[in-house]
Amino acid sequence: MADYTIHTHDYDVVVVGAGGAGLRATLGMAEQGLRTACVTKVFPTRSHTVAAQGGIAASLGNMGPDSWQWHMYDTVKGSDWLGDTDAMEYLAREAPKAVYELEHYGVPFSRTEEGKIYQRPFGGHTTEYGEGPPVQRTCAAADRTGHAILHTLYGQSLKHNAEFFIEYFALDLIITDGKCTGVVTWKLDDGEIHVFNAKMVVLATGGYGRAYFSATSAHTCTGDGGGMVARAGLPLQDMEFVQFHPTGIYGSGCLITEGARGEGGYLTNSDGERFMERYAPTYKDLASRDVVSRCMTMEIREGRGVGPEGDHIFLNLMHLPPETLHERLPGISESAKIFAGVDLTREPIPVLPTVHYNMGGIPTNYWGEVLAPTEDEPDRLFPGLMAVGEAGCASVHGANRLGSNSLIDLVVFGRAAAIRAGEVIDRKSSIPQTNQAAVDAALARFDAIRNADGGTPVAALRDEMQRTMQADAAVFRTDKTLAEGVEKMAQVAAKLDDLHVTDRSLIWNTDLMEALELTNLMPNALATIVAAEARKESRGAHAHEDYPERDDAEWRKHSLAWVEGNTVKLAYRPVHLDPLTPAEAGGIDMKKIAPKARVY
Ligand code: FUM
Repeated sequence: MADYTIHTHDYDVVVVGAGGAGLRATLGMAEQGLRTACVTKVFPTRSHTVAAQGGIAASLGNMGPDSWQWHMYDTVKGSDWLGDTDAMEYLAREAPKAVYELEHYGVPFSRTEEGKIYQRPFGGHTTEYGEGPPVQRTCAAADRTGHAILHTLYGQSLKHNAEFFIEYFALDLIITDGKCTGVVTWKLDDGEIHVFNAKMVVLATGGYGRAYFSATSAHTCTGDGGGMVARAGLPLQDMEFVQFHPTGIYGSGCLITEGARGEGGYLTNSDGERFMERYAPTYKDLASRDVVSRCMTMEIREGRGVGPEGDHIFLNLMHLPPETLHERLPGISESAKIFAGVDLTREPIPVLPTVHYNMGGIPTNYWGEVLAPTEDEPDRLFPGLMAVGEAGCASVHGANRLGSNSLIDLVVFGRAAAIRAGEVIDRKSSIPQTNQAAVDAALARFDAIRNADGGTPVAALRDEMQRTMQADAAVFRTDKTLAEGVEKMAQVAAKLDDLHVTDRSLIWNTDLMEALELTNLMPNALATIVAAEARKESRGAHAHEDYPERDDAEWRKHSLAWVEGNTVKLAYRPVHLDPLTPAEAGGIDMKKIAPKARVY
């Protein structure tokens, strides 16, 4: 093995990732005086949260009546009754507080005439427990909400003396006697190795959208946290649930925010018909994302797609007043021009359901503490490790996430992790010493990948994985496509043993970086297809044509997937049904959120 130059750092907390969740956790830790390092492979304000457009959900009630109970109900229904009740209650209750904190930190939200935070409608967000009209709950900074939040949280974290290690790639967790005690990283610009010892490691590494061929996710969304956790022998949860956003730009996959439909945009087929009126008579284009994506796919399959190949759908915004487009949706006007060559004041935008979000991830409780479930102890904690944001699975989104519940998940659970870390970290104890054996193992793996001399180029294998996932774990799934997908993915994953990395350098080696990312994407992809093949029902984003109904008796449970090499072992853990607060103490009426048919 090469002789690597190694630096060692000691911190109370190390956060891996600097998107919305990572920065909110970093800030919360640093505010409490915990010595906090944030290690990130990209510059913080380039993290994928920057691409979040439409807004952040919280029942502020600035545009009309709203309540945390209605928000919770919508989240429960959106999740298709797979979310954990305690986590969903925590999210909906804490959301207004978390948004006002963002406002006070300096997020430049758009404003109403009276100067309040502007809120727009988003899919699946309703009033009166789904019986009333759509609610305006999504707090927006034009269509650049994620961008505004990231810049604010980064500035605040610096102000509170959090220390940033930028363009460091996390190689592996350090596990010592069944506890996480740090992380090994590779510094991209000089090739040196940095070992971080810490009392708490927080994974905020984002999703794994790039396991698919067409995704709104940045190329950096490679499931690095999930990969490290799988290698540490811990499971991933609910990986079969992958969200397709209805309006990715046809061809490029670039996101056109749901806020476009929130501001009055609508979808049409080749007959010029507003087809969502047929499928979701009440909420129409503002039904939840899984529903809209399925309806679009059905229109295309039934020959009513638009374009020369009849393979996409139109999003119409031409009728919106120019001032709405200018003030509320300036970014997407530019995206439509650049990525579709369309002037959206005159022409519809060609769109297609595109992979957007992973509901599954590293299982945690609602404080972000990572779980290492066993059959007897489904909520057993894994000490020293937290996961937040899209990397984690709290589980608040269950089988389908509502639009704008992602940004609020980032800040509510990033904040919760910091609150919890402040309680559980013993400030007087010493930082764990370097576990040299674990560092050596991480470096041996790194070295082997760096020197991989097989016959399969990284880009070719990634392409094969992405095309397989796109074809076989799509909007609609069948026993046949899933079984084929499982078989193909096992063969694809086996080719990791035959990888060829062309560049042996340690400095700015993008081929090596992409190889490492591919080794993280692969366990995420494997867990997704295997868990999808096993789930014999339809629920949320998992639309199984051979089992079109939701089956609560058999399948209202979380899947757990342990990935080892090319094999995946599955088990299940129960959904948390109990709320945090009983109704008589001001909690939600459980009858309101009891499972029923999910219609919009
Ligand atoms: O459509 C959007 O603006 C995306 C928001 C989200 O995924 O929450």
